[in-house]
Amino acid sequence: MSLPIVEAAYKKEKPETEQIPFGRTFTDHMFVMDYEEGKGWHKPRIVPYEPLTLDPAAMIFHYGQTVFEGLKAYRTDDGRVLLFRPEKNFERLNLSGDRLSIPPVDEDEVLGYLKELVALEKDWVPEFEGTSLYIRPFIIATEPSLAVAPSKSYKLMIIMSPVGPYFSGGIKPVTINVEDQFTRAVKGGTGMAKTAGNYSSGYQAQAKAAKEGNADVLWLDGVEKRYIEEVGSMNIFFKIDGEIVTPALSGSILQGITRTSIIEVLKKWEIPVTERRISIEELYEAYEQGKLEEAFGTGTAAVISPVGELNWLGKKMVINDHEIGALSQELYDTITGIQRGRKEDSFGWTIEV
Ligand SMILES: Cc1ncc(COP(=O)(O)O)c(C=O)c1O
Repeated sequence: MSLPIVEAAYKKEKPETEQIPFGRTFTDHMFVMDYEEGKGWHKPRIVPYEPLTLDPAAMIFHYGQTVFEGLKAYRTDDGRVLLFRPEKNFERLNLSGDRLSIPPVDEDEVLGYLKELVALEKDWVPEFEGTSLYIRPFIIATEPSLAVAPSKSYKLMIIMSPVGPYFSGGIKPVTINVEDQFTRAVKGGTGMAKTAGNYSSGYQAQAKAAKEGNADVLWLDGVEKRYIEEVGSMNIFFKIDGEIVTPALSGSILQGITRTSIIEVLKKWEIPVTERRISIEELYEAYEQGKLEEAFGTGTAAVISPVGELNWLGKKMVINDHEIGALSQELYDTITGIQRGRKEDSFGWTIEV
């Protein structure tokens, strides 16, 4: 089935450089679908990218009933366009939606619509090394009502934005502050959902970290402030004495698709990987004993972001001399190789549009 398309009257200029600021340029078209109680999700369509008209009482503005996703389309050397495990994003959209009392979408159907949108905007997938087309599906509550209750109407939209490389000139280890004051999420809260409030509530910690020269924040659990959770928009892995450890999904951590993929790659390589609770004290002890060999964040934005330094309560852990670890590099090369069609996709993770 083909979607109804309203063509944009004029086409915007596409960026001619790899230095594209994140999330500021949008493609010519977007996908929209509506939900109404009793009618379900209906009227899928592609329309020109344009501002929305919403009632000021629309519930999204008042109680934050919204969820979103983030994935990318990659250009291969021979000009094809690939998506990386997009079905996982729609699976997670529904998981997040369930937590926020948003009605589920048909995941296969919406993936089909996404493919039509990407196919239409194919020329927007940039070619320069490290660039991609960032895809942002999101759902907002649209019912005009100030009642504190789930909305009876929603909009699902997909917008797309060409983005530059996360690190220009190859991956670089970053410095991260271990946050000891603010809390991102607690078990039973919304930490496992990709929803707006989880991000804006982290801005203060982010600003505090940046003031002291850190690129990001490493969150600890909200109850004891001991157990490591995740970084701003990445999951975290450590190599301790040859073993790879990542915090287990506790209900307050986002189930990253890169995280899942890294675990699957490590298992295939027969490298021991454990999902468990890991405290910051245990990490510091491993560091003092010279056993903390590598640390890296994982996420759609950077794929792998090596951590060169962790700052925790005035204590500094310099990891692998601020150098990229061998494992971090190998994982980065493997995942980006699959995403860009340069390495054999033996997992069957990519979908050609
Ligand atoms: C809070 C948070 N953790 C982890 C991730 C990494 O998830 P993924 O690998 O699916 O991009 C993201 C990014 O989406 C995130 O926002």
